[in-house]
Amino acid sequence: MSFLTIDDLRKRAKRTTPKAFHDYVTSGSWSESTLRKNSEDFDKISFRQRVAVDISNRSTSTKLLGTNYAMPVALAPVGLLGMQRADGEILAAQAAERHGIPFTLSTMSICSIEEVAKKTTKPFWFQLYVMKDHDFAKRLVKRAKAVGCSALVLTLDLQILGQRHADIRNGLSIPIKVKMSNIADLLTKPGWCYNMAMTKNRTFGNIMGHVKDINNLSSLTTWVQNQFDTKLNWDDIKRIRDWWGGKIILKGIMDPEDAKLAEKIGADAIVVSNHGGRQLDGANSSISMLPEIKKNISKIKVFFDGGIRSGQDILKAIALGAGGVLIGRSYVYGLSADGKNGVKKSLEILNKELDMTMALCGKKDINLVGRDIIKDCPFFEKN
Ligand code: GLV
Repeated sequence: MSFLTIDDLRKRAKRTTPKAFHDYVTSGSWSESTLRKNSEDFDKISFRQRVAVDISNRSTSTKLLGTNYAMPVALAPVGLLGMQRADGEILAAQAAERHGIPFTLSTMSICSIEEVAKKTTKPFWFQLYVMKDHDFAKRLVKRAKAVGCSALVLTLDLQILGQRHADIRNGLSIPIKVKMSNIADLLTKPGWCYNMAMTKNRTFGNIMGHVKDINNLSSLTTWVQNQFDTKLNWDDIKRIRDWWGGKIILKGIMDPEDAKLAEKIGADAIVVSNHGGRQLDGANSSISMLPEIKKNISKIKVFFDGGIRSGQDILKAIALGAGGVLIGRSYVYGLSADGKNGVKKSLEILNKELDMTMALCGKKDINLVGRDIIKDCPFFEKN
């Protein structure tokens, strides 16, 4: 089967991955209104079609936090990646490295920081969730530093878990629960089962064995409720910035006030993000907030995520001021569908769409893309 679009990969992923894990990726919180808006709002933005300009020798390559990459895209941190496909974090990191873009490893990954570092050759980014046990967070930061991670992505919008109905109905847990419905589903996913049987990475690699008294994760929701620090504040963030001492990206910024605070504490970048519509249901789409947030920020990079399913979406985000974008579901579908080759395919699809759309807007260098390629956009600030 040939995959032409990210949606082709999604359809295949649905057939190859156990329902509980596929639903985990596709779901949003509560009514999923924010999840839907994230994608739908991209359609409200239109490009200006330009002709008869030299569009030969095009380039999508750009710098993210001082390093050159093949396109302004990073793989977002995604929890439980190694449950979409055995060793998923390693496969995705290798595909990102091959394509020349950064990979971000989630705290809630299945493969550990050390395991991913062992199987890759370039530095990746590490995403931190702050748990009540700040010493554990500090140890994670130290471990990320020890393997040479080049940026710390601190997620700020998930100190409590937005309710995703599918996860509750599926009884999502690591390892997968032995229920009749799960067994029946697994029987239809032999490839997944085989790959899983061949790896030893089947639990949270960064956590198990590193935190006292955690031997069994019966429910993700309960675990997050018990472990994540709901008192996290800007002073803690400053402390984490100092432990790390390197490039730090604050993810989950949806309000201009918070963006200013992030700039004030000396972050290197923020990610305008509503966690892919998985947290605050009823929040605006990320793309609709990008222009206003960007307008209030002058000293630091503004990255973006939420709703990107095509190269056209990437181009719109860049035109609206993003210095780079993070993609989540768009590459996870590739991973689930066909492992490392599937992630490679996702990146090729997106890069090709980005390159050709940029050309049809009359541009040949992604670094020269700005608002001038946009015809209509209801999200530009009013004055
Ligand atoms: C974790 O990042 C999640 O959204 O489940």
